[in-house]
Amino acid sequence: EDSKKIVLVEDESLPKAIKSKIDQLEQFREKRVRVFGWIHRLRQQKDIIFLVVRDGTGYLQVVLSGKVSQTYAALTLTLESSVELIGTLQTVPEGKTAPGGHELIVDYWQVLGTAPGADDAFSNRLNEKSDPSILADLRHLVIRGETASSVLRLRAHLLTAFRKALTSHSLIEVTPPCMVQTQVEGGATLFKFDYYGQPAFLTQSSQLYLETCLPSLGDVFCVQESFRAENSHTRRHLSEYTHLEAELAFITFEDLMNHIEAIICETVDQLLSNPASAALVQTLNPSFVAPSRPFVRMSYPGAIQWLNEHGIKRPEEDAEGNPVKGEDGQIVMVEHKLGDDIAEAAERQMTDIINKPVFLFGFPKELKAFYMKRMPPREGMDQEGMVYTESCDLLMPNVGEIVGGSMRIADQEELLAAYKHEGIDPEPYYWFTDQRKYGTCEHGGYGLGVERFLAWLANRFTVRECTLYPRWPGRATP
Ligand code: 4AD
Repeated sequence: EDSKKIVLVEDESLPKAIKSKIDQLEQFREKRVRVFGWIHRLRQQKDIIFLVVRDGTGYLQVVLSGKVSQTYAALTLTLESSVELIGTLQTVPEGKTAPGGHELIVDYWQVLGTAPGADDAFSNRLNEKSDPSILADLRHLVIRGETASSVLRLRAHLLTAFRKALTSHSLIEVTPPCMVQTQVEGGATLFKFDYYGQPAFLTQSSQLYLETCLPSLGDVFCVQESFRAENSHTRRHLSEYTHLEAELAFITFEDLMNHIEAIICETVDQLLSNPASAALVQTLNPSFVAPSRPFVRMSYPGAIQWLNEHGIKRPEEDAEGNPVKGEDGQIVMVEHKLGDDIAEAAERQMTDIINKPVFLFGFPKELKAFYMKRMPPREGMDQEGMVYTESCDLLMPNVGEIVGGSMRIADQEELLAAYKHEGIDPEPYYWFTDQRKYGTCEHGGYGLGVERFLAWLANRFTVRECTLYPRWPGRATP
């Protein structure tokens, strides 16, 4: 009853409070500050309330004691309410810890937006044990949590670090279109839509556009969304993902692999040398160690041999590509042979055993995209009747493939033959073909799945945790 009567009034005789974000507070120790945020934790005792407030930049321990803890708002305060807090920032006493090493002793405060309590309380809606589909529906609330927000924060650092590494290698950033009328990685995974009465697609990869930038801007990269209508409900497939792609001119296949390795290692080094991102990696993935260079390089035939030596088999497939079942109803498993695709399961077992980044290179032409350059004769890869490409996939432990790259066909006639072989109408690709017509050059590039990279770095179970609002088959909300 009494509490309803307590009305707080800010004491105008006190020094004017300095408005600050939580991460900037240290410079204002022992001063009067004004902070805005959301109630992250709440512990109510008789005459004192301890809060942890967050504003996105960090967490702040807050103490409400005396009159400020006795108001109606204080006694009915709920998690996730938004508040304004004014008080003195004090260094925490010796032996005590708090985020930033200080706490706010409040002399005036108010609730700005009350969050509901009881059944509709945040903690009731969001329960760690909730069904995954409920958590997906509540992604907008999940991202307020410490783990989810740390992953997203690390993602931001990661993108900055990638950009820094790429620009330090003289690549410049471009923004290719998402709405396109050509395919890159095969028709099966295209999202098609009506574009003013014409068929168009959401881009699968910006590669072809990056190639056209080489004579204009030199080596280029982009960080763009790619879209894949893949009916894959796996830990590493999204329908929309952030694709970091780069393209380099006048290089060899060896240069390409060295470049990918350098960018990845320099990005990781940067993340670990910045205290903010290093702390996030440490929290999310305490056992993370930067990969050592050079990465293991294994040719495709070498990988087939390795799989067989390690007893890793593949399901036998019929002519339609469906798994064959034996008399016992079990799927028949057989040895890998040259020409086989290395499926996700085998790839995962391989990276788990090797437990370091591995470059697989030199895939057969039939398994790869139309634009890839043939590999010139190379020792250990001269199998009868097999045409290999200058292609590489980078595999990471726990995740599998995170990068796909290749050298591109530079010769116009060869490219025209490749369209034909693949049954692609060359007409819509005239601009891509023109690259070979007007001053062609040897060139290559790659695409890196940002969510997969982050899943590796932050040790997440699935790429769905590594993007703001993940999309997968059947899921496009929130
Ligand atoms: O191997 P992909 O299909 O290669 C390309 O698209 C090339 N055109 C890129 C290039 O050379 N510029 O895809 C590249 C990477 C994969 O290694 C993977 O990390 C990621 O993109 N990726 C996906 N990530 C999440 N969900 C999906 N459905 C993905 N498909 C590919």
